[in-house]
Amino acid sequence: MTRHFLNLLDATKDELALIIRRASQLRQMQKAGELYQPFVGRTMAMIFEKHSTRTRVSFEAGMSQFGGHALFLSPSAIQLGRGEPIEDSARVISSMVDIVVMRTFGHDRICNFAKYSSVPVINALTDEYHPCQLLSDIQTFNEHRGSIAGKTVTWVGDGNNMCSSYMLAAEQFDFYLNIASPDGYKPNADLLNRYKHRVQLIDKPAEAVKEAHLVVTDVWASMGQEQEQQKRLRDFAGYQVDENLLDLAQPDVLFMHCLPAHRGEEISQNLLDDPRSVVWDEAENRLHAQKALVEFLLQDKIRA
Ligand code: CP
Ligand code: NVA
Repeated sequence: MTRHFLNLLDATKDELALIIRRASQLRQMQKAGELYQPFVGRTMAMIFEKHSTRTRVSFEAGMSQFGGHALFLSPSAIQLGRGEPIEDSARVISSMVDIVVMRTFGHDRICNFAKYSSVPVINALTDEYHPCQLLSDIQTFNEHRGSIAGKTVTWVGDGNNMCSSYMLAAEQFDFYLNIASPDGYKPNADLLNRYKHRVQLIDKPAEAVKEAHLVVTDVWASMGQEQEQQKRLRDFAGYQVDENLLDLAQPDVLFMHCLPAHRGEEISQNLLDDPRSVVWDEAENRLHAQKALVEFLLQDKIRA
């Protein structure tokens, strides 16, 4: 049975903990200049139907550091973009490579691809989930503050793919999650109900951050919602994360944002430079966390 990583429930708590620990080890090895090439001759196909900087660079660089090769496939260059069925594309592409990374719109698209793929498929973001970002966020919290278990995280902003991923993460990494979102942009109700022992809605950001050891936000208009930008700017008024809001949280609070960020919208102009912000480590850890994930999914293909 081929293992995929389409959301955070595709690995057990123990496996996720292992991946995060390994990510920090791989980070140290990389910093020390150690050559570690367990995947010489292996190939990763990367299908990106949306833009990306961090995810693309981290998977591509990571695979190359592992001694393997990553193949970037944009929809405009492959037949998938001209209407070749996803099932056919999955069968063909997976017959030639060892692992597939896919960024797309509806989550059903990646589920369908995975169903017909003979090799592991990693979700590099869908409209519903962004699990790789969470691996990096948890690794980053661990490296700065130790275990996130029992801590409180506050999500401020859109109840989007990142917010849903945080709800699954609360369950998988045993933390509490407060979510402050404006009306019309509340998080997925099914997830909220399923994880109500971990997750609560607190409408006012100032209330929601009170206990927080970590405050997280994201853009107000995600990829594919560009035409709603102006309306969202109005609807999210009062939900900007700024230095004053962080002052209301725990004294050792950290701030994260998956990036790209819009200064002056969901965050204040200089928040990324605030000492409580760890966004650059968070971004860099995409590389190490995903290397750990690829190593985990391809463990039977490691060359001695
Ligand atoms: N955070 C994140 O996934 O960034 P990219 O869209 O640049 O890949
Ligand atoms: N919610 C954002 C995340 C970008 C990494 C989006 O889907 O565009």
